[in-house]
Amino acid sequence: MEKKDIDWGSLSFSYMPTDYRFVAHWKDGKWDEGELVSDSNVTINESAGVLQYAQTCFEGLKAYTTKNGDIVAFRPDLNAQRLKDSAERLRMPVVPEEMFLRALDMLVKANAAWVPPYGSGATLYVRPFLFGSGPVIGVKPAPEYEFRMFCTPVGPYFKGGVKPIKLLLSDFDRAAPHGTGHIKAGLNYAMSIYAGEYAHSKGFAENMYLDAGTRTYVEETGGANFLFVTKEGKLVTPQSDTILPSITRRSLMYVGEKLLGMEVEQRKVRFDEISEFAECGLCGTAAVISPVGSVTKNDGTEIAFASGMENMGPVLTKLRETLTGIQMGDVEAPEGWIRKIM
Ligand code: PLP
Ligand code: COI
Repeated sequence: MEKKDIDWGSLSFSYMPTDYRFVAHWKDGKWDEGELVSDSNVTINESAGVLQYAQTCFEGLKAYTTKNGDIVAFRPDLNAQRLKDSAERLRMPVVPEEMFLRALDMLVKANAAWVPPYGSGATLYVRPFLFGSGPVIGVKPAPEYEFRMFCTPVGPYFKGGVKPIKLLLSDFDRAAPHGTGHIKAGLNYAMSIYAGEYAHSKGFAENMYLDAGTRTYVEETGGANFLFVTKEGKLVTPQSDTILPSITRRSLMYVGEKLLGMEVEQRKVRFDEISEFAECGLCGTAAVISPVGSVTKNDGTEIAFASGMENMGPVLTKLRETLTGIQMGDVEAPEGWIRKIM
């Protein structure tokens, strides 16, 4: 199969339509089979639940080309599970795991020419999403839904790839206690756009959010969980009920402990203790592991990590290499982590 004529190495994290996308409809209590279509536009009622009351949730995962030319996905069953959790919290119909995985296989096979080659530095980002398509005017669940999945080739989420970024400690909150921070609801991201643009306008790549209830503990950024490394080399990640349970973070904690023999700990992390960590990074499907050089408070005080602003620290580098090695087939994957698509 001939690949598209794309300069894979200079891709950024942005949308580029590919040839096919998957679409399924839910009506009268059941899903249809779903199919691939070529039109990238969506036609829905003006009073659709998604348009009026933001009844929508999504997922993000990637497909990779391995050294031997296979195309694989990383732990897509966990994305199907998380989409189920999101759907239930937003009172939307659950997409069966069977449909989710079938859609993924169909989508990636049909767009194989768009999957970046091994070693190109780019990957195929897959975006499943579910939304209320039927009309509502009172605040209640929509009567009809669409489940869609499209894909787009991407490069690094943050400009510069593995160059440390600067974060702003946000004065805004991302997620309320007992709210929707733990699911992948579109509304959480709408909430973060103002704060994100504010941080960018001040020269920061992203925000660090604290827990909204007490403003004491580190939560996450707008699109990734935090990883910290102590001076003794222990991997620490924040525990919170109001952050998204990142599949990358859960995988890295396993990789750190079981494959690299590290000490790992998930616990509440106070903002006022972060200066004691040697390394800090963001992790997620889009972010992979992106190193954080410093976090700045609104009064201008900057907390810099010992690993500095030039390079990623050694522990996060090792974790990143092992994770991407597993995803690209260079490191043996734990049982069930890799789905071979073709
Ligand atoms: N936190 C938020 C708010 C996110 O949007 C994402 C991205 O999906 C993550 C964390 C990382 O999750 P994952 O590793 O499953 O991609
Ligand atoms: C992902 O990492 O898949 C996400 O959904 C994060 C998003 C901010 C791009």
